[in-house]
Parts: sequence; structure tokens; C-alpha cells
Amino acid sequence: MMFRMVRSDDIDTLFEVRAATRENALSREQLAALGITAQGMAEALDSGAVKGWVCLAAERIVGFCLADIGAGEILVLAVLPQHEGRGAGKGLLQRTIAAVCKDRVWLAANPDPAGRAHGFYRACGFLPNGERDEHGDEILVYRAQLSA
Ligand SMILES: CC(C)(COP(=O)(O)OP(=O)(O)OC[C@H]1O[C@@H](n2cnc3c(N)ncnc32)[C@H](O)[C@@H]1OP(=O)(O)O)[C@@H](O)C(=O)NCCC(=O)NCCS
Repeated sequence: MMFRMVRSDDIDTLFEVRAATRENALSREQLAALGITAQGMAEALDSGAVKGWVCLAAERIVGFCLADIGAGEILVLAVLPQHEGRGAGKGLLQRTIAAVCKDRVWLAANPDPAGRAHGFYRACGFLPNGERDEHGDEILVYRAQLSA
């Protein structure tokens, strides 16, 4: 596996990966309903408001992670099912946290303990702060920042 920073010409592939995850998959149409479009993403990447990393296997993108640099928010992390459990998620998350350079790095995640994301984020150093967002997702804050 290899990692490199996200480019705006990756966007179509990012939508394909986001729609194909084993859990929490979102189609292009579902993302559009949430206000997330290819054009908006291209603008955010070009301006530097959003940055992130992709993971490649055999030269194909198998996972990606994006962050809102100003907000310190990890916006999305997605790995294709056949590439789960090999360190792609952790590698993407660590690199994207490093790109954020903020005092506080946080994200909103599905609170279902049966979901893989629940244990994964805790294993990667994120802890709940007791808050929920408007969708009922729990807010998790990166532990290294909490103790700083
Ligand atoms: C959640 C997700 C990103 C994890 O990616 P991944 O590549 O499978 O995870 P990794 O292989 O990098 O695992 C990293 C570490 O987390 C641990 N881990 C993963 N899931 C875990 C769980 N449920 N409980 C405890 N630890 C877990 C792994 O054991 C590993 O630990 P190690 O580094 O000590 O070996 C991936 O499963 C995914 O894309 N799921 C679908 C989309 C999604 O739910 N995204 C997040 C919410 S938007």
C-alpha cells in the first residue's frame, strides 16, 4: 500500500469509494442531499480549505480521508471492504491529523458500538466528549490534543 495527498482529479474515485464501503456507505445522490458535491469538493481542495490523503493498492485508490483544515474536523474516512484490516484506515487518519495542524482535531461518528468505526476511532486515540451533532452522531476528540 502507498499513501499520497488527495488531488482534485481523484474526486470521482473518492465518490466511488464512499459509495462502496461495507458500513456507512453513502451514494453520490445521498451526499448531494447533504450538500456534498464534486464541484464543492474541487473548490475546497483547490483553495486548501480541505486536505487529505488517499491510500493506493496496485495503483488504485482503495481508501481516503479528508479534513476541514479551518475547523479541525475529520470529514470522512473510507476504506474499501476488501482492503479493511490492513492499516489503511489508521495510516490515512494519522496523516490527515498531521495535515490539520490544529489544537483540536475532532470528528462525528456513528455511535453504534457494533459498527467497525466505533472501536476503530477509539483504537486510534479518539474519545467521546459527550456531545452529539444534529444527526445523532457522537463527537470524538483526538486524545493527544485533550491532554495537551
Ligand atoms: C472504519 C475504517 C476506516 C477502518 O479502516 P481499516 O483500514 O479497516 O482499519 P485499520 O486496518 O487501519 O485498523 C487500525 C487499527 O484499528 C483497530 N481496529 C479496527 N477496528 C476496530 C474495532 N472495531 N475495535 C477495536 N479496534 C479496531 C485495528 O485492530 C488496528 O489496530 P492496530 O493498529 O493495533 O493493528 C474502515 O473499516 C471503513 O472504511 N469502514 C466503512 C466506512 C466508515 O465507517 N468510516 C468511518 C465513519 S465515516
